Amino acid sequence: MATTTTSDSNEGPAKPTARRASRAKSSATQHEKSDRPSNGANGNGHDHAFGTGAMVGAAAAGLIAGLAATIGRKAAVQAVSAFSGDWFDSIKAEHQAARKIFDKLEATENSQTAKRGLLLMQLKHALAKHAFEEENVLYPSLRDHGDPDQADHLNHEHGYVKQYLFDLEHMPRNNRAWTDKIVEFRAELEKHMREEEESIFPSLHEKLGPKGNGELSAAFNREGFKLA
Ligand SMILES: [Fe+2]
Ligand SMILES: [Fe+2]
Repeated sequence: MATTTTSDSNEGPAKPTARRASRAKSSATQHEKSDRPSNGANGNGHDHAFGTGAMVGAAAAGLIAGLAATIGRKAAVQAVSAFSGDWFDSIKAEHQAARKIFDKLEATENSQTAKRGLLLMQLKHALAKHAFEEENVLYPSLRDHGDPDQADHLNHEHGYVKQYLFDLEHMPRNNRAWTDKIVEFRAELEKHMREEEESIFPSLHEKLGPKGNGELSAAFNREGFKLA
């Protein structure tokens, strides 16, 4: 497989300043070790204990910051659909979000290979979460409510969504063949989304009624949050 060439400026090598900072930090740690009295600065050994406590505190703070960042990311990704309430509105919002990523992809030039890679990654993430929700919640509900063939048909098409994503990831991103593949992918996905939006899901929504739709919306949002 040919290797993609990139011309975008944000794909440069790791910055030397990061290595310098790392060396300075290492040197400072050595200095601290050599200056530290073996029995504590005041002779009672407590400074070492304090140092350990500070390290534990810093590690805990880092862990909390990491958790907060993860929760923040999940909330931001989930925001496309989590607050729309009804599962069917969420589905339509997520389809629209995918269409917007395709718009951006189609507007790129052949030289913008890094941007294409980033947008493709966003599309893959958005579609993976969407497929997870549909395959784990909506399609099982379709089967339980008398439409197993439609559920299997939609599930089968999801396999080809993954095929397009795989092919696009492994093709050079700096030529017309790549954008042609994007256009073909969008056309196929558009048919799938329209079928869901205009016939299959409206029929399920009608069958379920308010209580059933409320339960399905809760299950849908729980599933989405797992992959956000
Ligand atoms: Fe689908
Ligand atoms: Fe969908």
